[in-house]
Amino acid sequence: MTGAHRPGIDEAVRKLTAREHAAFVAAHPASARLAHEAAAHWLDGVPMHWMRDWGTPHPLYVRRAQGVDVEDADGNRYIDFCFGDTGAMFGHAPPAIARALAAAGEAGITSMLPAECVARVGAKLAETFGLPFWQMTQTATDANRNVLRWARAIAGRARMLVFDGCYHGTVEETLVRADPALAGQGGARARAGLIGMSHDVAMTTDVVPFNDLDAVARVLARGQTAAVIAEPVMTNIGMVLPAPGFLERLRELTRERGTLLVIDETHTLSSALGGYSRAHALDPDFWVCGKAIAGGMPCAVFGFTAVVEAGMRRVQAERAGGHSGMGTTLAGNALALACLEASLDELMTASNYSTMLATAGHLAAGLTRLFADAKLDWHVARVGARLEFGFGAPPRNGAESERAAWPALEHAIHLHLLNRGVLLTPFHNMMLCSPLTTTAHADTLLAHLGDCLRELRSAP
Ligand SMILES: Cc1ncc(COP(=O)(O)O)c(C=O)c1O
Repeated sequence: MTGAHRPGIDEAVRKLTAREHAAFVAAHPASARLAHEAAAHWLDGVPMHWMRDWGTPHPLYVRRAQGVDVEDADGNRYIDFCFGDTGAMFGHAPPAIARALAAAGEAGITSMLPAECVARVGAKLAETFGLPFWQMTQTATDANRNVLRWARAIAGRARMLVFDGCYHGTVEETLVRADPALAGQGGARARAGLIGMSHDVAMTTDVVPFNDLDAVARVLARGQTAAVIAEPVMTNIGMVLPAPGFLERLRELTRERGTLLVIDETHTLSSALGGYSRAHALDPDFWVCGKAIAGGMPCAVFGFTAVVEAGMRRVQAERAGGHSGMGTTLAGNALALACLEASLDELMTASNYSTMLATAGHLAAGLTRLFADAKLDWHVARVGARLEFGFGAPPRNGAESERAAWPALEHAIHLHLLNRGVLLTPFHNMMLCSPLTTTAHADTLLAHLGDCLRELRSAP
């Protein structure tokens, strides 16, 4: 079973999916009723349209989520490996965050003034992630948007360089794919399927394949690139690991060409305490993280060097006043700051990371064994507490990863697992291990996945 699908397997996938759809409907009457009621007032019956991306016959409505446990409106319980696509990576409803929410809720949520704790939290961010200066937003999207604006202003250049298959939130400049006609030369085309976008990405962005240093060097040599924005490990088109030396050379090239390096660790915060950049001494100019940074409370941060801070001061001094065009009213509010501090103090601890990484290592070894036993040439990729399995050999860039994807099989596997009480992220095959995830949870996933693969492989 690889990207070249066998007709027998395709038929088995179809049959399994049809059976699991029926099983889902039978087990979720309360969710079905809620879907019907909610559709009267919400687009597609959900408060955000992508909540329909699970591919289930109707949405699953959640009653509560605590630790690794999610309970739906029908009382079905799940072991969660999705964790809100990373927002709840340190577990659902962590007591430290619940306490911070209650205290800050009482003391005032937002005042357009910095909360008393701000100096202390800044020092903790600097200590944990190794960058001296910080700003806050409410989402990683917005942090990236702010960073790209600052980078353009500081560098006095217009263009951004991204890697093909990247995702950095809904930032217009990054909603791009490589233009196949310009292989490795830069340029960009808008991602397929964008709704209502008028931004001309070819004017702002160059896209090159991940792990392609020649292409990076070619684009940067034009002297037009304000910043490269990258995840250190691509995680949004399957998982693509950096080739040995790639990130180090990327750092050198950006320095040589006066281009700022933005490392987006919204997902790779899973790597280690302090993120991938700290663990691998990447030394970025900007460092971005959202989602889990404040335990799932809407909050994101971007850190930057003293040189960047000096650039910001220069830009501020030189501009003619007026609105900066950056910032949202609730960014940096007291509630988010309190949760950020609780997360730094009690979630992002050495002991939590050590547990998460050990469990993820156990799961990765189990998956590797499972695929070997089933004689499948599938691979397992891991960045700390975050894992992916993919069909075929490990991809070297986004296009290779995309070519190996098999959405119908992924959906069949996800639905099979969901109906047996295991939640995987609905996009590709991503799994997270929280500090509360145990090897027994991992073994449950492995057992059900093993059953699913056996059924598919027994197809004629
Ligand atoms: C690497 C990366 N950056 C930024 C974002 C955007 O995060 P948000 O949707 O919370 O703004 C995502 C979302 O998946 C992401 O994966």
